[in-house]
Amino acid sequence: MQEKLLELQKNALAEIAEADSIEKAESLRVKYLGKKGELTIILKGMGKLSAEERPVVGKVGNEVRTAIEEGINNAKTELKKAEQAKKLAEEVIDVTMPSKEFKVGKKHPITKIIDEVTDIFIGMGFSIAEGPEVETVRNNFDALNAPKDHPSRDMSDTFYINDDLLLRTQTSPVQIRTMEKEDLPIKIIAPGRCFRSDSPDATHSPMFHQIELLVVGKDITMTEFKGTLNTFVQKLFGSETNTKFRPHNFPFTEPSAEIDVTCFKCGGKGCPVCKGEGWIEILGAGMVHPNVLRNCGIDPEVYSGFAAGMGVERLAMLKYGIDDIRLLFENDVRFLDQF
Ligand code: DAH
Repeated sequence: MQEKLLELQKNALAEIAEADSIEKAESLRVKYLGKKGELTIILKGMGKLSAEERPVVGKVGNEVRTAIEEGINNAKTELKKAEQAKKLAEEVIDVTMPSKEFKVGKKHPITKIIDEVTDIFIGMGFSIAEGPEVETVRNNFDALNAPKDHPSRDMSDTFYINDDLLLRTQTSPVQIRTMEKEDLPIKIIAPGRCFRSDSPDATHSPMFHQIELLVVGKDITMTEFKGTLNTFVQKLFGSETNTKFRPHNFPFTEPSAEIDVTCFKCGGKGCPVCKGEGWIEILGAGMVHPNVLRNCGIDPEVYSGFAAGMGVERLAMLKYGIDDIRLLFENDVRFLDQF
């Protein structure tokens, strides 16, 4: 029996030496030392031995078990080391390799203008308001005092969804939503997308952006109106910029004005940007019409306000010298990369 045990040890150690993976070495533990392992089977025969032989064989059996266990553990340690060495050799980092190009995106010129304008107004204590792009006819036209036969209501100008809903043609409906919802005084700007049924050409796009402005409170007069807009254009175009308030007509303001600024390119002398005029029109504005205040439940005898709306694409095109609005939406990265 002792010979059998020593034979077993020899075979086991030889097999362990051959093991070429940790799993293989581990499987030999089961093969030799497991419940149904070869060593266990031999030792089960010990019952048949004489009382003198039993402790001697038992001792050899234990020594064989220890030898096999040690053999397996050593083999596993060696195999682990070899595996690690192989991994290290394979995963060498070549510090001389050229790096991958890291491209940081940038803001679209429309976003840049919106950010710039909103920053200026936030600096003057305004907050930002938002409204949905799908609007009610009431908020987009009726509550804004647009006459029933106003040409902008025409199907050929406005995308209607049904009799009551449309894609907003201007950001002005945000005025209505804000006046109906918020407490007075109100001081907001509302940037956003607008839609009109225009065929695209160099100056028209069926989708475009506006920034709306609304101030409502007590004692808001033409003085606050002109002062705020003068400050804004000087912050946007430079402190030398002058403004010209040209009388105009909007249904939601009375009086209404279109506001021109001295050309930021030539300073007013006349150049291709201002088409030789020295002035550039940048926004529509006026004192909020009493009917609009009334439509929102505000008493025009107590409160007054002013509003303005500007086209973002127009500002971007002027500022960056872009001559075709479509370039802004084709999103050719070679074009957008310039700004
Ligand atoms: N909503 C006008 C438009 O789309 C722009 C405008 C003009 C907005 C005068 C105003 C305003 O708030 O007072 O042409």
